[in-house]
Amino acid sequence: MTVGVCYFPEHWSRERWETDISQMAEAGIEYVRMGEFAWRRIEPERGTFDFAWLDEAVELIGKSGMKAVLCTPTATPPKWLVDEHPDVRQREQDGTPREWGSRRFTCFNSPTYRSETERIVSVLTDRYADNPHVAGWQTDNEFGCHETVTCYCEDCGEAFSEWLADRYESVADLNDAWGTTFWSQQYDDFESIDPPKPTPAANHPSRVLAYERFSNDSVAEYNRLHAALIREANDEWFVTHNFMGGFSLDAFRLADDLDFLSWDSYPTGFVQDRQPDTPTVDELRAGNPDQVSMNHDLQRGAKGKPFWVMEQQPGDINWPPQSPQPADGAMRLWAHHAVAHGADAVVYFRWRRCRQGQEQYHAGLRRQDGSPDRGYREASTAADELFDLDSVDASVALVHDYESLWATRSQPLSPDWDYWNHLRTYYDALRARGVQVDIVSPEATLERYDAVVAPTLYLVGDELSTALTDYVDSGGCLLLGARTGEKDPYNRLHESLAPGPLTALTGAQVARHETLPDHVETRLSYDGATYEFRTWASWLAPEVGVPRGEYRTGEAAGNTAIVRNAAGDGSVTYCGCWPGDDLADALVTELLDAAGVEYTERFPDGVRVMERDGYTWALNFTSDPVTLTVPDSTGFLLGESTVDAFDTAVLDGSIRGVGLASE
Ligand code: GAL
Repeated sequence: MTVGVCYFPEHWSRERWETDISQMAEAGIEYVRMGEFAWRRIEPERGTFDFAWLDEAVELIGKSGMKAVLCTPTATPPKWLVDEHPDVRQREQDGTPREWGSRRFTCFNSPTYRSETERIVSVLTDRYADNPHVAGWQTDNEFGCHETVTCYCEDCGEAFSEWLADRYESVADLNDAWGTTFWSQQYDDFESIDPPKPTPAANHPSRVLAYERFSNDSVAEYNRLHAALIREANDEWFVTHNFMGGFSLDAFRLADDLDFLSWDSYPTGFVQDRQPDTPTVDELRAGNPDQVSMNHDLQRGAKGKPFWVMEQQPGDINWPPQSPQPADGAMRLWAHHAVAHGADAVVYFRWRRCRQGQEQYHAGLRRQDGSPDRGYREASTAADELFDLDSVDASVALVHDYESLWATRSQPLSPDWDYWNHLRTYYDALRARGVQVDIVSPEATLERYDAVVAPTLYLVGDELSTALTDYVDSGGCLLLGARTGEKDPYNRLHESLAPGPLTALTGAQVARHETLPDHVETRLSYDGATYEFRTWASWLAPEVGVPRGEYRTGEAAGNTAIVRNAAGDGSVTYCGCWPGDDLADALVTELLDAAGVEYTERFPDGVRVMERDGYTWALNFTSDPVTLTVPDSTGFLLGESTVDAFDTAVLDGSIRGVGLASE
């Protein structure tokens, strides 16, 4: 397990590089990522290449005992290229081009940009194919960053028609599958099906979903092009891509073409712009551990192997609404947290605060005058403390479906419906109990997990229904959440009531549903206790399923909220509403008990325990020290039983028996 840094030698004078690079090595850094925005520096004019600077930087890195991770520079093409070929620009839904002047504005389907990509990637990968100091590559930079997964240009329009023609026997089949008789939306041929454009009311949900699938496939295809060229040049290099956190680009679709996944973690930004609640003061200083680790577990779960954090927040950052200074210790805490969840490397972004351009207000490990900032010391401490580990072993899977995310986003029915935050309710409940969770796609093999939670499998066809039924039949314990099985894979309601093909498995159907704003009181009873729920309520009509929870408030009162069914050798619980935290805990612990999965006491927000390879991490994301209780036989590799504010302890033993001392 190791630490790295993102470096932009092109931002600094040549005289400085040796100093910078030797300071990196002194800090214990092992990987230096470079080049993702340097196309113009590499190719100042068409066909004229300047590699001297990058050759030299790579050489210095190698000589200092570190490895370079290079990036394909396709997120920022030079101006000469865009002036020559303005068609490479993406277009907004209303046709406005996304202009040169920042980054990631080029179209994934543009034949011109694809051939330009092939050209620059081949030149670069050929250049470094035999260089012993280059360990691997990152493709592009954050595909989809700044909401750019979807583009609405003519190239995309044509590619969309072809994509559809490949997937349907005939346009009549498509009309039938989508239900285009609604509002006279029948098509006569594939060529006339264009990307959804602005129109007075919402676009047809089946068309919108098809466009999301197509756009994500386009990104995957574009990524594949990079990966193939990189591997062709040197098949010992690794190929990865840096995904974003809590984002809607389908990481599972790209996973097959990557050796491992990586992602960019900015905890004090995410709590401000990716969760609905106002962040607490502690969250502003260190982020929310579950929000961050949900991404770790997804990156690991997608390939069932360790991942990298390719960009780790180094200090204050420029893009969220506020730029708080992270707590002392947070930069080190994040590295331990990532490693505990299965990271093999944590690469800080960036080496040094930049004096120019859009990110002057983004910290680096060093300040703009080159002097060390807190991040430098903390990264260096982390580098010293991390040690090699096998991957995380999780007995619980949480099924995440990007297509259900896209589809519910286009028909949320409530401003409060949020796919990720609903998923978080279940995920956080598992993490509060110290349970290791793999976040996996609906296609994953579930049989190896003792328990499975699927918060929102909204689009359910026969294949998925069979997989879930087989899992339960063979003894699996399954927990399903709100909006399960409402739609078929084309985004139409099933002919039967929800959960459609899962009706036999759940032993219940949805009689009706409602959404309600926060100020309406929403309570239910479950297992003799009263709990709160929010936003969504499906009223269940049990057939063979046993009613376990009943709505107690409003119009829903008296209707079933939660049902449990035994099927084959296993069992399934179907919760029709968005549970409050206490209800989620009750549901999750019942599931774990049924599956025989051990769990800890319920840790408070901000304090989390995690096991990897026989070691246990206790991580304190709060400003108050906490004291652990630990079995007598367990020693500490790092820290001690009192874990200070924003600090961590590493125990030489499993998570079993680890708890908190009462005050
Ligand atoms: C990431 C991006 C980096 C940098 C960073 C700032 O999303 O990949 O290039 O912009 O954010 O926090």
